[in-house]
Amino acid sequence: MRQDRQRKKTAKKKETWQEHGHENAAHAHGNAAHTHENAAHMHGSAAHTHENATHTHGNAALNKQKIKKEMRQTGRQMTSGKPLGKIVFEKPGNMLYPVPAVMVSCTDGEGRDNVLTVAWAGTVCSDPPMVSVSIRPSRFSHEMIRKTGEFVINLTTEQLVPAADFCGVRSGRDMDKFEACHLTKLPASKVSAPLIAESPVNIECRVTQVIHLGSHDLFLAEVVAVDADASLMDEKGGFHLEKADLTAWSHGRYYALGRTLGSFGFSVRKTK
Ligand SMILES: Cc1cc2nc3c(=O)[nH]c(=O)nc-3n(C[C@H](O)[C@H](O)[C@H](O)COP(=O)(O)O)c2cc1C
Repeated sequence: MRQDRQRKKTAKKKETWQEHGHENAAHAHGNAAHTHENAAHMHGSAAHTHENATHTHGNAALNKQKIKKEMRQTGRQMTSGKPLGKIVFEKPGNMLYPVPAVMVSCTDGEGRDNVLTVAWAGTVCSDPPMVSVSIRPSRFSHEMIRKTGEFVINLTTEQLVPAADFCGVRSGRDMDKFEACHLTKLPASKVSAPLIAESPVNIECRVTQVIHLGSHDLFLAEVVAVDADASLMDEKGGFHLEKADLTAWSHGRYYALGRTLGSFGFSVRKTK
C-alpha cells in the first residue's frame, strides 16, 4: 500500500518535471567530496588530501578493539541512527544528491557568449585536475563547447541562485543571459570562455574527451586555471571557501549549505 502510494507520487512528479523540460531531480550526478581536495591544494597542504587520508584510515586491519580504543581516546561515539525501512523505486534513476548546480560559461569564439546551468558536473581526477560536465546535445551551449573545446565552471552562491535558475530554464538561442541576469564577464586567464565575475570560484577547463552516453554527452576536461575571489584568502594564503555562501542542488531544490558538522578527519581526531 505504502509502496503503491510512493510509486504513484514518483510517477506524478516525473511527469511534472518532463512537462517543464528541465534537467531534473530524477537525474543526478556530481560530487561533494572534491572541495576538500581543491581546498587542500590551495592551502598548499597536499599532505592532507582526502585521498591520502583514505590510505591512512582505510586500513581494514583496524580491528574492533583498536576502534574502541580510538573512540575512547577521541571521546566520540559513532551515532549512525537507526536502520531505515526501504522501498525500491520502480524505475531506477539518478539519485546522487546533493550536488552543485554550477553555472557553465562558454563562447562560440566569434563574439557570442553564453551561460547554462549544469547539475551533472563532477570532479573526476586529482592529478591532473579534471572535471566533467554532462550536457544534452540540444542545448545551445553544447555546440559552443564542442566547437571551442573550452568552458568555465562558475560556482553558485546564494546570491547567484536566481540567475543560476534562470540560466537553466532559458536558452542563449533566444537572449543574452549575461545581460538578462546582470552578470559581469571577465576574461579568463587560459581559455576563451568568459568568467562570471560575481562567482567566487571560476574553474577554467579544456575539453580532453567527449563521450556520448545517451541523453547527455559527457565532456571530460582538464582544469587549466582556477580564479578565486581575493577576499576569501587570508594573510597566510589560506583559502576560506566556507565564507563564500555556496549552494547545493538536491532532488529539484536549491539549498544554502547550512552549519558545519565537522572538518576533514574530525571523527578520529582527539578531543581536548
Ligand atoms: C538546476 C538545473 C540543473 C541543470 N543541469 C543540467 C545538466 O546537467 N545538463 C544539461 O544538459 N542541462 C541541465 N540543465 C538545463 C539547462 O541548463 C537548460 O536547458 C538551459 O536552458 C540550456 O541553456 P542553453 O540552451 O543556453 O545552452 C539544468 C537546469 C537547471 C535549472
